[in-house]
This record gives sequence, structure tokens and C-alpha cells, in this order.
Amino acid sequence: MTTSAHPLVRLDAVHRQFHLGETVLDALKGVSLDIHAGEFLAVWGPSGSGKSTLMNILGLVDAPTAGAVWFDGRPTQTLADDALTEFRGSQVGFVFQSFNLVPVLSALENVMLPLQIRGMAEHEAKARAATALLDVGLAKFSANYPDKLSGGQRQRVAIARALAVHPKLVIADEPTANLDSENSRMVVELMREMNRAKGVTFVFTTHDPRLLDHVDRKILLRDGRIETDEVMA
Ligand SMILES: Nc1ncnc2c1ncn2[C@@H]1O[C@H](COP(=O)(O)OP(=O)(O)OP(=O)(O)O)[C@@H](O)[C@H]1O
Ligand SMILES: [Mg+2]
Repeated sequence: MTTSAHPLVRLDAVHRQFHLGETVLDALKGVSLDIHAGEFLAVWGPSGSGKSTLMNILGLVDAPTAGAVWFDGRPTQTLADDALTEFRGSQVGFVFQSFNLVPVLSALENVMLPLQIRGMAEHEAKARAATALLDVGLAKFSANYPDKLSGGQRQRVAIARALAVHPKLVIADEPTANLDSENSRMVVELMREMNRAKGVTFVFTTHDPRLLDHVDRKILLRDGRIETDEVMA
């Protein structure tokens, strides 16, 4: 846990509207939320409740139509697009439902990719990626291509890729949706372990209430609003 006074992310009365022709859809209807550095937090709730919309805003991929977002004490609405992209790239890692690994790259090369996109020299990216794969228990599989990895292993590579940039926050939207229950549990346990070992803040969404056993805090979203926000003892 950090001693910093401000939350890692603060949402203040966030609304997100989508315009679909004549109709306006309110996906988030005034969400206020502080996420503190070091938290391990799940967002759950029915389909269409606004989980992905919320994750995109927390991860600075999308901006609210009303309300404000602060990231590490900075008001993000004042950042220009390219500054925001750079800031997001250095602060936030993403894990996706469909893993999003590049099929023609090995596990190691997949983990290196975001580092090289950010301009890191190849030898340094390789060393960082190798460490990240070691951390998630996949050092032996570094040379494997995604089609030679199980679903659970692919998601562990994706977690290594997210962590390799040394982000403050990892956003994982339905990271276990394509996994069986055993691999789902392993992926949540791995995220938990990385959260504890590295102090990285994790926010993930899930439909599966069994995966909520591991979390510090769970937020139930319903119809674009926070229904409950429970901190575990
Ligand atoms: N880009 C978009 N354009 C229009 N409507 C959208 C868009 N993204 C989301 N919505 C709508 O906003 C609402 C919330 O969607 P969201 O994807 O955030 O829900 P969710 O909780 O992630 O659902 P699921 O569990 O199915 O992933 C839904 O009614 C959805 O149709
Ligand atoms: Mg979703």
C-alpha cells in the first residue's frame, strides 16, 4: 500500500452517454469512485450494466460525457490526446477476454511488443519480457507461439505483457470469460499474486461470483449505477 494522499483513480459523477441515431443511451449514470493504489478490485453485474464502459474510462481509453476523472492526482480532461495516449501507455496495462496475443510472435515477443512500441531497446525489452514471463511461471514457454499454449497459459502471457510496462494499474475486462473454471481460478490467483508481490492495482470484471472470493473489494454495477461497493474485511 502506498502512503500517497490521493487515490490512484478518482471518478467524480461520471456519465457516459452513447448516441444511437435518435436515441440516447445512458451507459453510466453518475458513477463516483476512488480506487487506491494497491487495491485488488472486481466489478461485477449483469450484461449491459456498464462494466466495460467503466473499465474503458478507468483505463483512460474512453472519456466521460459528463463528470471528471483524475489519475494519480491529475485531471485527465486537461491532457491533449497524444499526451493522454503516452500517459496511458506508461500507467495502465490491459488484459482482454480474448487474450489478444499476436499469433505470429512467440510468447516472449508478444511480451516485448508493447515495450518496443514505447521505444525500448531490443535487449532491454527482451530482458524485461523474460522476467515478466518468469514471474507468471512461463519461462519455459517463452519460445512457444500462442497456438502452442493452452488458454490459461495464453492469458498468463497476456498478464505478463500487461505487467512488463510496469504500470500502476492493470485493467482486465472479463479476463476469464474464455477459460474453464480451473483456469479462471488460476488466472485470478495469478493476478492476486502479482498484486501482492508488486503492489500493482488490479481492476477486473467478471460474471462469475465464484471469482469474487479473492478480492479486497467488489463493486456491483446495475443499470449504469453502483449498487453496492463492498470492502472485504
Ligand atoms: N460503443 C457503444 N455504442 C453504443 N452503445 C454502447 C456502446 N458501448 C456500450 N454501449 C451500451 O452501453 C450499455 C453498457 O454496455 P457495457 O458494454 O458497458 O456493459 P457490460 O456490463 O460490459 O456488459 P457485458 O457483461 O455484456 O460485457 C449497454 O446498453 C450497451 O449496449
Ligand atoms: Mg462488458
